[in-house]
Amino acid sequence: MGPATEPRRPARASKSPALKGDIRIPGDKSISHRSLMLGGLAAGETRITGLLEGEDVIATGKAMQAMGAAIRKDADSWIVNGTGNGCLLAPEAPLDFGNAGTGCRLTMGLAGSYDFETTFIGDASLSSRPMGRVLDPLRLMGVQIRAGSGERLPVTLHGPRTPAPISYRVPMASAQVKSAVLLAGLNIPGITMVIEPVMTRDHTEKMLAGFGAALEVETAPDGVRSIRLEGRGRLTGQTIDVPGDPSSAAFPLVAALIVPGSDLIIRNVLMNPARTGLILTLRDMGADIEVLDPRQSGGEDVADLRVRSSELSGVRVPAGRAPSMIDEYPVLAVAASFAKGETVMQGLSELRVKESDRLAAVARGLELNGVDCTKGEDWLSVRGRPDGKGLGAVSKDAIVATWLDHRIAMSFLVMGLASENPVQVDDCAIIATSFPQFMDLMTGIGAEMAEQ
Ligand code: S3P
Repeated sequence: MGPATEPRRPARASKSPALKGDIRIPGDKSISHRSLMLGGLAAGETRITGLLEGEDVIATGKAMQAMGAAIRKDADSWIVNGTGNGCLLAPEAPLDFGNAGTGCRLTMGLAGSYDFETTFIGDASLSSRPMGRVLDPLRLMGVQIRAGSGERLPVTLHGPRTPAPISYRVPMASAQVKSAVLLAGLNIPGITMVIEPVMTRDHTEKMLAGFGAALEVETAPDGVRSIRLEGRGRLTGQTIDVPGDPSSAAFPLVAALIVPGSDLIIRNVLMNPARTGLILTLRDMGADIEVLDPRQSGGEDVADLRVRSSELSGVRVPAGRAPSMIDEYPVLAVAASFAKGETVMQGLSELRVKESDRLAAVARGLELNGVDCTKGEDWLSVRGRPDGKGLGAVSKDAIVATWLDHRIAMSFLVMGLASENPVQVDDCAIIATSFPQFMDLMTGIGAEMAEQ
């Protein structure tokens, strides 16, 4: 099961006429995972609209079902009946997370502190990603761990009879690690503290508070955040409307910027400040992105975006901005390929441990398509060609390797829309992990993009 064993589906994108339309993108992946997890854990009913129905999120739903949650679809809503906090059941089989790092790592926290055995498996991409970052704090809580070499999947966890609360300083900028510790803390008596030196996306904190957890966040003058959670509290089912995913909106957004004459409206995009780094950066580059009707929805900032094609100029992207746009660097590199001058992106070490080594995958794909770029250990610089002349596949064999990474596939398909020559990727099946409608939505606004 899962994309690793499914046949690859090559695809190709070519120079397109102006992109026009008024679109909605699928629900935010981070919030969708957390909605099913917290809904599956809370007492009573949770109703979710706008849930991302991608493979990653479905894997999380199946894991929650395997641990006792009842989940069903009723028209446009997903209805979840949770077990009650502290009442997850031992799964009878390994939990298969496919390609989904967030689902896997957060569930390791959620289930790891229980006095039963849970085994985690995934596809080739997920099985090569580091899990030690989550296993380290779990060990401190007393969780027993069997892991593959280098702390890779498959991993089996068995929580202690009496788990101990910990105070944990997150050593890297990772919302997944922060969230895993907090979710483990739900089943631990006493106070679990997470200290976050650099702020990352705060959906777990916000949603835990929304479900009724006793949680407090303090931010020191230097920006260090301390999150205090009292374990074993009651969580109660909620109604959630998941806003559109800014990390998915990024693809049609960059496409509209680089394809001349484009004018696109993207509705209902999550504008949480911990997620808007790409928009800030593109605006620094001269992008015409209008934020329409900014509003609040379910405790999150949301807005519609109007994007018109723009003459972009290279910028230096500050390293400190990385956590607020960590998933957007591949598509930013594509935008930079069409900008005047050089764009320098720094502080990218976390890019190396995503669904693929994104720094290497992006640099290789750009080079293959004629882009002048240089990469270092944790940085990338791109010198663009505003007219797209000479960009794209120079030969029939110039096919971008996507490495089971949805964002590599989508980024390079976007690149083909403004390049002189078409851009080819070796697989578009993997896109279904986060954005199943991607090809239809893009062709619907005029993009020349198709499976081979
Ligand atoms: C996510 C956190 C980020 C991000 C991922 C989703 C989350 O990962 O890249 O796509 O939902 O918590 P890290 O925590 O590894 O930075």
